Amino acid sequence: MAPYLDSSLAQALRGRDFLCLRDLSNEELALVLEVAADLKARQKRGVPHRWLAGKTLGMIFQKASTRTRVSFEVGMYQLGGQALFLSARDLQLGRGETIADTARVLSRYLDGLMIRTYAQEEAEELARYASVPVINGLTDLLHPCQALADLFTIKERLGRLAGVKLAYLGDGNNVAHSLLLGGAKVGLDVWVASPPDYAPRPEIVAAAEELAAATGARITVTSDPAVAAADADVLYTDVWASMGQEEEQEIRRRVLAPYRLDSSIVALAKPDVLVMHCLPAHRGEEISDAVIDGPHAVVFDQAENRLHTQKALLLLLLYEGRSNPA
Ligand code: CP
Ligand code: NVA
Repeated sequence: MAPYLDSSLAQALRGRDFLCLRDLSNEELALVLEVAADLKARQKRGVPHRWLAGKTLGMIFQKASTRTRVSFEVGMYQLGGQALFLSARDLQLGRGETIADTARVLSRYLDGLMIRTYAQEEAEELARYASVPVINGLTDLLHPCQALADLFTIKERLGRLAGVKLAYLGDGNNVAHSLLLGGAKVGLDVWVASPPDYAPRPEIVAAAEELAAATGARITVTSDPAVAAADADVLYTDVWASMGQEEEQEIRRRVLAPYRLDSSIVALAKPDVLVMHCLPAHRGEEISDAVIDGPHAVVFDQAENRLHTQKALLLLLLYEGRSNPA
């Protein structure tokens, strides 16, 4: 068994929910990244780590997904457990059964739940009534699992997190929100450049500033993409219209056009800048083909690291100290 599972930090994580980066202390977040590095190394070397043998994760999806679904499902499998894909279209939830009753019922079968949905409050309600850990697989407000993979990728590439300048350009959405909170917790210098009507939510910026006070992180929100990108170590963008905002696509395309991550923006950043995108990308909109396919892009590392960081999270939340490694 890995020694980190016995530490008091790891034991304190067992049975907890992960709905927001704020659910983890700074030390717990560092542990998740450390465990992810160990699990990635074990997987690459073919060393079994079936510490969740016999455990089952239910995954409720109210929105589409490629990465989240597959990485959670494969992650549970590699940890010796299994995952169930539960489309909200097919669940009684889609026909009016309440979230509370769904949570109570599913808790009788499953060892953990992941939910991708619209309102953050729905994920919170599921967690309130479930007796098993609930993980946020994306809401309109937050995408904390993405931020875990992003922080891991930055650390893997640059060898550090504190003091790194990350500039996020575009829509101040769920991904931007989780980067603000996660970045603040690890001491990143996070800049968000977006048009004023698409700026990150003020309460998230305030929460990030509060977290930043403890770590020395700096949080800056601006409408000037060039100022944000100047000397950046990391440039990040995401789609201009998120899932559920399809009818706003046209106006968003017009207003957000000056925030496109293209070669002229890359030229303002550090010469070895990392270009990041959570994917799926709308090539030619928020990011040019040349940039996403160019030498700076680490977008597929990010996608892969969803697997390793979520395995770390699953292990820390669901492990009970009873399963034998294979
Ligand atoms: N980045 C991400 O969450 O991708 P999916 O929507 O494919 O899960
Ligand atoms: N902001 C995007 C992220 C997709 C992974 C969305 O919510 O659709």
